[in-house]
This record gives sequence, C-alpha cells and structure tokens, in this order.
Amino acid sequence: PVLIVALLAFAYLLGSLSGSLLLGKLRGVDIRTQGSGNAGGTNALRTQGWRFALGTVLIDIGKGALATALAAHWMPASAHAWGAYAAALAAVIGHVWPVFHGFRGGKGAATLVGALAVAWPGALPVILGVWLLCLLATGYVGLSTVLAAVSLFVLALLVQADIARLAFALAIAALIPWTHRSNLARLRAGTESRFERVRLLGR
Ligand code: G3P
Repeated sequence: PVLIVALLAFAYLLGSLSGSLLLGKLRGVDIRTQGSGNAGGTNALRTQGWRFALGTVLIDIGKGALATALAAHWMPASAHAWGAYAAALAAVIGHVWPVFHGFRGGKGAATLVGALAVAWPGALPVILGVWLLCLLATGYVGLSTVLAAVSLFVLALLVQADIARLAFALAIAALIPWTHRSNLARLRAGTESRFERVRLLGR
C-alpha cells in the first residue's frame, strides 16, 4: 500500500506541472488572468498564439502519458488491474488542482488524452472522433471536451469494460463536466467563446 500511495502521489505531482503556466513563466505571463482564465491549451491558443498553445498541449499530453506509464510500470502485481487507471486519474487531478500553482490549474483535457494513450489507447479514436466532430459542428472546444468525456463512459458501458475501467470512465465523465462548469454556464447564457474558423460542418 505504501508503494501504491507513493506512485499515485508521483502521478499527481507530475500532473501538477502545468504546460501553460510553466511556459508562461518563461514569457512572464499567467494566462489565468487572460481570456477564459483557464490554464490550458485552448486558452493558450486564444491568448498567446499557436506556438505557445502547441507547447502547452505537448507538455500536458506528455506528462499525462508519462505519469500513467511510469506509475503503472512500478505498480505491484496486486494493483495491476486498476493501477494505470488510478494513476491516470491522479495525473488529471494534478493538472486540475496543481500543488505547484496554487491549486488553480486547467480543465484536464490534454492530460486525459495522454493518460488514456497509456491506460486505454483503444478509447482514443472514439473520444477524439467525438471531440473533433463536435468541434467542427459547433466551434466550441469546452462543449466538445465535455461530450468526449461523457462518451468515454458510454463506450465503457457498450464494451462491457471491467469494473476498474468502468469506474475510471465514470470518474472522468463526472470530473470533466465539473471542470467545464463555467463553459457550460456560458453556453447556456450564450456567451461561450467560439472558434468560428474551425466550424466547418452544418453552417
Ligand atoms: O477542454 C477545453 C477547455 O480547455 C476549454 O478551455 O479556455 O475554452 O475554457 P476554455
């Protein structure tokens, strides 16, 4: 149990390294004071341009994958069935509530992609497909991410995933809409910002 707790703490700490906030320190900006106020790739693109956003997303995807892979690799045999999912969740939680950045991080989308690439790679084409279709149809990134997270749980049900995978998917389908609650509120109010240029379907 000590090893398991230490590995989950390790995944959390790695998840706490926020791409946009670390790059922002180099540039002398804190993107939490700009745009949507979110420390993530979308707001990096909105406020800093595509290079900064690409760096942000690569760091966040990379740390999600690395945290999950390393923690899962060192998990004792007794935790093999669920260790990767717990580590994946710990990394996402680290990104959302980062100890290194005053517990004010991002919304977990890119970190989740990296974590999933290790813990459940088969789900990636499905949730990325849902995300992309929604983005092309609506231009709303936050809404697309929420739908993708919910579709992860639907997928787990459809493929009759084991209990560890099902519990992980349920946790994600609850956490991601929660981290996007401000986006959902803005959608209802009609004030959510929209990327018109990526809105290509059904205009
Ligand atoms: O998951 C997408 C999320 O990053 C949305 O960010 O800045 O539009 O709230 P933002």
